[in-house]
Amino acid sequence: MDGSNMNVFASDLLKDKVAFITGGSSGICHGIAGKFAEYGARLMLLGRNREKLDAAVRGIEEKGGVAAGFAADVRDYAAMEEACAAARERFGLIDILICGAAGNFPAPVTGMSANGFKAVIDIDLLGTYNACRAAYAHLRKPGASVISISANHAHQPYPLQAHVCAAKAGVDLLTKTIALEWGRDGVRANIITPGPIDDTEGMRRLAPTPEARQAAIAGVPLGRMGTKDDIANLALFLCSEAASFITGGVFQCDGGQGMTGPRNLNPAWEASRK
Ligand code: COA
Repeated sequence: MDGSNMNVFASDLLKDKVAFITGGSSGICHGIAGKFAEYGARLMLLGRNREKLDAAVRGIEEKGGVAAGFAADVRDYAAMEEACAAARERFGLIDILICGAAGNFPAPVTGMSANGFKAVIDIDLLGTYNACRAAYAHLRKPGASVISISANHAHQPYPLQAHVCAAKAGVDLLTKTIALEWGRDGVRANIITPGPIDDTEGMRRLAPTPEARQAAIAGVPLGRMGTKDDIANLALFLCSEAASFITGGVFQCDGGQGMTGPRNLNPAWEASRK
């Protein structure tokens, strides 16, 4: 795993690699799944909804990819152990773990219940821990790569997003700690920080109106929303041999949004204060 003898243009860049992707039946992580399948990986997608999983698997198979789905909640550690064991039994050792399952809703601190706050912490932070902890025994060592999907919320406070800010800050440091602890096993762990990504559940929740959408775009120096492909391309790089000396990194794929602060949520924030 020294990055030599690789051809980053080969469409079999991930040939025969096994990828386990939480949240892989929709949104950003489904985009990553599609890209990985295109480059030869075999996928185990994990999500809560069986129908969505089946549809996601069918879509990948129709394009010639190899995928299976496991219905489970990342908050349920025992189920995550079962899911990782099932992935190994079906495809072999896990080469790539994407921790992408996430929850979000816009609400001020006093507008969410303790249970609402906990729900997001449990899905994002505990869910990332559960996936990593359960997958460890099944990861290829050396060689495996872990990617956590975080957000600029990890280092920048956003109004109406206290739960997500707290969860993602935890996700970043959890993932970096894993990079430290698992480095000697030859396992890398990195963090992707997407900005506003079009056609995702997250943006439907955070920017549900044309006004909010325009405000989100105004906060992006590159002047557009990102695409799922933008994130998938970065994930592809980070999982490939081309990134073999990269671990513990935070990679913003956000059109520069992380530099501009919480402007993208101003309409919702202002409305909540009226
Ligand atoms: N405002 C305030 N509180 C809210 C809320 C909102 N818009 N939406 C949910 N909550 C609260 C609920 O009222 C509940 O608290 P309560 O028991 O005190 O009433 C708590 O959050 C849990 O809600 P519930 O629907 O039971 O939890 P869940 O586990 O089924 O769902 C969520 C988790 C809340 C994160 C839900 O939004 C979800 O499933 N999201 C997944 C998809 C997603 O968010 N994708 C975008 C990722 S960026």
